[in-house]
Order: sequence, then structure tokens, then C-alpha cells
Amino acid sequence: MAGKTALIAGSTGLIGKELLHFLLNGSEYEKVIAIVRRPLENAHPKLEEKIVDFDRLDQYIESFAVDDVFCCLGTTIKKAKTQEAMWKIDVDYPVAIARLASSQEAKRFLLVSSMNADPNSPIFYSKMKGKLEEEIKQIPFETTAIFRPSLLLGEREEFRFGEKAAAAIFTKVPFLFAGPFKKYRAIEGKTVASAMYRAAQLNRSGVTIYPSEQIQEIGG
Ligand SMILES: NC(=O)c1ccc[n+]([C@@H]2O[C@H](COP(=O)([O-])OP(=O)(O)OC[C@H]3O[C@@H](n4cnc5c(N)ncnc54)[C@H](OP(=O)(O)O)[C@@H]3O)[C@@H](O)[C@H]2O)c1
Repeated sequence: MAGKTALIAGSTGLIGKELLHFLLNGSEYEKVIAIVRRPLENAHPKLEEKIVDFDRLDQYIESFAVDDVFCCLGTTIKKAKTQEAMWKIDVDYPVAIARLASSQEAKRFLLVSSMNADPNSPIFYSKMKGKLEEEIKQIPFETTAIFRPSLLLGEREEFRFGEKAAAAIFTKVPFLFAGPFKKYRAIEGKTVASAMYRAAQLNRSGVTIYPSEQIQEIGG
């Protein structure tokens, strides 16, 4: 066992749940801290569940003294209700986590962003993810890995019409997503999680952006 420690934020989500499974059951990590706002339905000898107030993350600074940090946080405008509330969850919390982890000398930061992230985009979601990436890139780590998946596939507790409709299209007419359109192919949350787990073991230095096609190759 290599004996690394990890912290994960967003471990109750589609990608995060799968990633937590990899972190707990792989041989690379001896301790996994999951910061959550509600209890996890998960018990594992390596798991340390930490219920936190995400608006006061600096109160839990000792939890950020780990090797690798995985951030899979995010919400939808439907749930958040306002762009301000969404920005807080999708940008402010990940940036706060990265700053605290960097201050505690964490080595690697792995972030789920999104395809089309662009700080200059006129589309709110793409602009928000672009701004998030800009901020994260400024925070020092040995390794910063930013994952830009296309539409996510997988079983959710809630119903998301857009994802279900797109999943049906991908299944029924897969040839539409060939050649130059391959990059728009939807991707399983589990594949993203697997790519994040594997990328953390590569020890690449500096910032690496992983587009959806590459996530598929690494995690598939
Ligand atoms: N959906 C897509 O097709 C798509 C495509 C590309 C990129 N992405 C991005 O990929 C990332 C992960 O997506 P996902 O579908 O795996 O996410 P998800 O299933 O919606 O899970 C989001 C996670 O964030 C946590 N979270 C949400 N609001 C929170 C709050 N106020 N305080 C603390 N934690 C909060 C959730 O915790 P709770 O369980 O406590 O709510 C959950 O663990 C997101 O950033 C998303 O924008 C999504």
C-alpha cells in the first residue's frame, strides 16, 4: 500500500459516488476523508466522514492536510434557483477547498469542470466553469488536473429530463457522434471517476486539462 491520503468533496453525487468507491477499494490510499453536508450511507475502514458547513470550510483546516484532493461538487440551476446560489456551489466552494488544501501542502488537485468551459462565454454555465478553471489554475499544486466531461450518463436519484433525452439519442443514433462529433459523445459518470483516480497516480506536474474524449480513453 502506497499510504496516500485523499479528500473528496461531492462524494454523494453521480461522479463522486463512483470515485469514492475507487478511492476506498483501490490500493493507493490508506485514508479517505469525505467532506459532506449530510451523512453518507457508507461505512469502510478507510473512510473518515466529515459533516461540514461548506460556508465555513476554514473551520476544518486540519482535514485538508492530505496528498490528493478530488472535487466533484456542482449543482443545477433548477436546484440552486439563482445564478448566485449556483456560483457559490460550483465556483466558491471548490476554490475555497483548493486554497485550504494548497495551504496544507496537498500535492494534487483534481477537479470536475465541464466541456465548453470558457470564461468569456456568453452562456452562464460555460462562463462559470471557465472562471472556476481560471481560479483553480492560480492555486499552487504539484499536479492540477481539470476534467471536462461532456453530458454525463448514469443512474441518479432525481430525474433530469435533458440527460435522459440525450442518453436516448446517444443510444439510438450513435453514428451521429462519430468523426469530428466524437467529442460530444455522452460519458458515464463512472468513466469520469475512473479517469480521475488514474490521473491522480500519474504524478504529472503542472496543469493538465482532460477533454471528454481523453477522459473516455483513460477511464474507459
Ligand atoms: N450533468 C452533466 O451532464 C454534466 C456534464 C459536465 C460536467 N458536469 C459537472 O460535473 C460535476 C459533477 O456532476 P455530478 O452530476 O456528478 O454531480 P451531482 O450528482 O449533481 O452531485 C453534486 C455533488 O455536489 C454536492 N452539493 C451540491 N450542492 C451542495 C451544497 N450546497 N453544499 C455542499 N455540497 C453540495 C452534492 O451533495 P448533496 O448530495 O449533499 O446534494 C453532490 O455530492 C458538476 O460540477 C457538474 O456541473 C455535469
